[in-house]
Amino acid sequence: MTSSPAGATKPASLYIPTRARIADVTDLTPHEKLFRIELSGGADLGHRPGQFVQVSIPGQTEAPISVASSPTRSGFFELGVRRAGRLTGALHELRAGDEIGIRGPFGRPFDLGAMAGKDLLLVSGGCGLAPMRSLVQYVEDRPGDFGQVTLLYGAKSPEAILFREEVRRWEASARFACHVTVDARGGECWEGNVGLVTSLIAPLQIDAERTVAVIVGPPVMYRFAIGELTKKGIKPESIALSLERTMRCGVGKCGHCAIEHLYCCTDGPVFWLPEVADIPGAL
Ligand SMILES: Cc1cc2nc3c(=O)[nH]c(=O)nc-3n(C[C@H](O)[C@H](O)[C@H](O)COP(=O)(O)OP(=O)(O)OC[C@H]3O[C@@H](n4cnc5c(N)ncnc54)[C@H](O)[C@@H]3O)c2cc1C
Ligand code: FES
Repeated sequence: MTSSPAGATKPASLYIPTRARIADVTDLTPHEKLFRIELSGGADLGHRPGQFVQVSIPGQTEAPISVASSPTRSGFFELGVRRAGRLTGALHELRAGDEIGIRGPFGRPFDLGAMAGKDLLLVSGGCGLAPMRSLVQYVEDRPGDFGQVTLLYGAKSPEAILFREEVRRWEASARFACHVTVDARGGECWEGNVGLVTSLIAPLQIDAERTVAVIVGPPVMYRFAIGELTKKGIKPESIALSLERTMRCGVGKCGHCAIEHLYCCTDGPVFWLPEVADIPGAL
């Protein structure tokens, strides 16, 4: 487990946003867009998979958004953003060439050290694929660092599947076992799995002793996913999860993101299960 609350990288600026340029905007679904962001001079963000940035637009509020791309892909970083309210709504109106503010990277990343050499079972639901994508790309780019990698992804409907092209590539890749499911078929012709993402766990053949599981998804998913992973014999100390809380400062000063004695922004957002399992309301 890592005990480094602020992650492995030093934030470029704690309180003052750095100006960054939107290099490209892609529609992922009718409600989510992918923003490719460049820092001045092509500088790298210096993040680790699992970390987030505070995104701002002059005259608007700020919002925490997970970095959706791997630090192994340099010269830019990407943010997958769902239109949820003021900041994300305004962000969706921006185009390539527009400027935004970035603070960070912040937060505790996935513990790549603890994952090294292990089999990975990555369970993601809905928007949770955005932070998970950073880890998946990292694994793609460092194939020798990890054992067998299984990625499970559940979306509400076929129309809601994020990163479609990449997901198809992962499904076809010999590097991963990638399984996708949808809660309901919706309007699209869909011949894949139908059911909750947690239903994909039971049929898996895994070596529980050498598996690290990672869960990122909507709050309702966690208890069920943990239950299924535990049934497979994966120990709580080998289950990592990324939690979301309303945030303001992002750097452990304001207390808005408190989960009892833990600050989601600095002690998390990535936690090992034993750290939060007994905290009421954490999961
Ligand atoms: C660590 C972290 C990583 C995140 N990563 C992403 C990401 O990659 N992509 C993405 O689209 N969103 C992400 N979010 C969620 C995003 O920050 C919220 O949706 C945020 O409220 C959007 O700001 P807004 O000004 O557009 O919405 P607001 O106008 O502030 O609020 C919109 C609605 O969302 C609710 N809300 C506010 N904060 C949260 C929260 N943390 N969790 C759930 N509901 C909230 C509000 O109560 C309100 O109902 C992340 C949040 C955290 C804490
Ligand atoms: S957001 Fe301020 S302490 Fe976490």
